[in-house]
Amino acid sequence: MKSYDIAVIPGDGTGPEVVREGIKVLDALARRSKFKLNFNYYDFGGNRFLKTGETLPDGAADELRKYNAIYLGAIGHPDVKPGILEKGILLSLRFELDLYINLRPVRLYPGVDCPLKNKGPEDINFVVVRENTEGLYAGAGGVLKRGTPDEVAVQESINTRKGIERCIRYAFEYCRKRNKMKKLTLCGKTNVLTFAFDLWERTFYEVAKEYTDIKVDYAHVDAITMWFVKNPEWFDVIVTDNMFGDIITDLGAMIQGGMGIAAGGNINPSGASMFEPIGGSAPKYTGKNVINPLAAICAGGMMLEHIGEEESALLLEKAVMEVTGKHLKSLAAGQMGYSTTEVGDLVSRFVTDLSLD
Ligand code: IPM
Ligand code: MN
Repeated sequence: MKSYDIAVIPGDGTGPEVVREGIKVLDALARRSKFKLNFNYYDFGGNRFLKTGETLPDGAADELRKYNAIYLGAIGHPDVKPGILEKGILLSLRFELDLYINLRPVRLYPGVDCPLKNKGPEDINFVVVRENTEGLYAGAGGVLKRGTPDEVAVQESINTRKGIERCIRYAFEYCRKRNKMKKLTLCGKTNVLTFAFDLWERTFYEVAKEYTDIKVDYAHVDAITMWFVKNPEWFDVIVTDNMFGDIITDLGAMIQGGMGIAAGGNINPSGASMFEPIGGSAPKYTGKNVINPLAAICAGGMMLEHIGEEESALLLEKAVMEVTGKHLKSLAAGQMGYSTTEVGDLVSRFVTDLSLD
């Protein structure tokens, strides 16, 4: 029997509750499709930091590297100053494990209330490939005369040919494998950021020559925010830099119905990758069994696809569609008509009973 070792970081707030439901569904799929998942838990997060002053202990990244994948709940604690856990855990894992792709599917599930009232599941189904280790996130820059009236702060965007090219190649490959519109859009700002996005644009069109089956397109980031709302059906796969990707994927999450359903992957195509619901730790709902676990469950689906259990990933997706389409009243915490546990139970039942055709 195939067997996979998965590191689990439930993290803070509602993270543990949604991860618990995700693992319930993953276990149901493993039983059905006859593979084995060995989960190993790590207590990284706000509580550990408050107790020990440690974000990631020494050697943690090297240990996590050995797993087939990492399943993350949420990082963020109301009693810890913003930035410490983000930098110390999330960003640090992205850099140390070289998770250079941030993959964010945006799709409207059946039955989900979309703020773009007249668009349906056939109109909203695209994926953002966000570069995840460079750009403004690289930490380049500095500050002069801090705290004085003459203070200067510089934050530079680092863009390497190698970093851009591997991200763009991943996006072309992903677009081909996805096999929908076979259209890849570069999202940039070539009219103003004439150094960084000149390099992005040249690399994009150069690599495109090797993928003549893929249609290519370009959009400025400001324009793309308008089109996501006005014409989401234009998009298939979008590739962009770290900062723009951060912003447009939160817009994408709203278009698809909100944080209750939006999942993401931090991917190194040849190493241990990390999958997470993107919604954060939701301190307000912690421990109440009301948070929506579907985003964590969908992140589990992305993880299954990544480790090669593609059939189980499809079953999971179908089960989620069944639940959004026929059961949940809303995706919002406390308004689903079901508890967190019950949503996990429902998806587990469907992944066991549904068939793929
Ligand atoms: C995300 C988050 C992170 C980011 C934060 C928590 C550092 O917003 O994964 O999109 O900005 O990348
Ligand atoms: Mn973000």
